[in-house]
Amino acid sequence: MEGTPKQPSNLSLLLQSLLDEAQQLPDAGKVADYIPALAAVAPDQIGLAVATIDGQVHSAGDADTAFSIQSVSKIFGLVQAMNRKGDSLWQRVHMEPSGQPFNSIVQLEWEHGIPRNPFINAGALVVADMLVSHYSASKAAALTFIRRLALTEQIWVDNAVYHSEKEHGNRNAALAYLMKSFGNIEAEVPDVLDHYFYQCSVEMSCKQLALSLLFLANRGIHPVNEQSICSRRDAHRVNAILSTSGMYDQSGEFAFTVGLPAKSGVGGGIAAIVPNYGVIAAWSPKLNNFGNSCRGMHMITQLAGQLGLSVY
Ligand code: DON
Repeated sequence: MEGTPKQPSNLSLLLQSLLDEAQQLPDAGKVADYIPALAAVAPDQIGLAVATIDGQVHSAGDADTAFSIQSVSKIFGLVQAMNRKGDSLWQRVHMEPSGQPFNSIVQLEWEHGIPRNPFINAGALVVADMLVSHYSASKAAALTFIRRLALTEQIWVDNAVYHSEKEHGNRNAALAYLMKSFGNIEAEVPDVLDHYFYQCSVEMSCKQLALSLLFLANRGIHPVNEQSICSRRDAHRVNAILSTSGMYDQSGEFAFTVGLPAKSGVGGGIAAIVPNYGVIAAWSPKLNNFGNSCRGMHMITQLAGQLGLSVY
């Protein structure tokens, strides 16, 4: 990190001013519309939260409003699977950037059904397969894990999104069946897809999301209750892959301009990990061409720049 992060005298005021600034940006981006349930989200909502490793949460705007976390959920699934499978996980999913859109299928055939990383859909489906194969009730286990991390029982799945994802899931089904043909999916494909769509449909607020990922800023230990969530080595590994592959095809630019491990989702959420400091969670539904929240990107970029949070 570029020295110690600057401590603003009032972090909540800074968050509010960055949020106000993001709201004034020229109207850009488009709400995800591949399923009706996401297309119906009010587009001008905006929230920002920072949880620091002393357990405090600062926020601005709609930081208590629950939104569809979508691909941010791939972090939770990965950590669960790393805890269950150990190093054998990396024989079935690699840790390289893909250079392809998140739902691309072409690379998967060239590379014999082994996905490039756990944050593209194919990789997240392999992770989901591991969880479905391990747990008798994998969906309940996923929700329990997320609630444990966020320190609240008040986290639910949006059923409209969940059912809509299932109805429009042909591309993910194609990825899963292709991988099964290579022997890289063990469970039945409909069960793997069901788990994946359920996990994508979890709703969380910026405040909950920031708290839930604090363990990644604190070497695998949840700083609020001192619970060990994963090993120090695995926290490092998750942050490393987030840095190279967490922001879709904009991961290089995000590392260049922001310099933090981060994950976005097509619901408009972005979570950025600041090692030894905390977690930033931003949400606003309108997405840029890469699938990243326009206003969320702006707020995180400004905050990281002003406080000197880059890890590089
Ligand atoms: O897999 C899908 O189609 C959606 N649930 C998209 C999730 C997402 O945010 C994009 N993934 N990398």
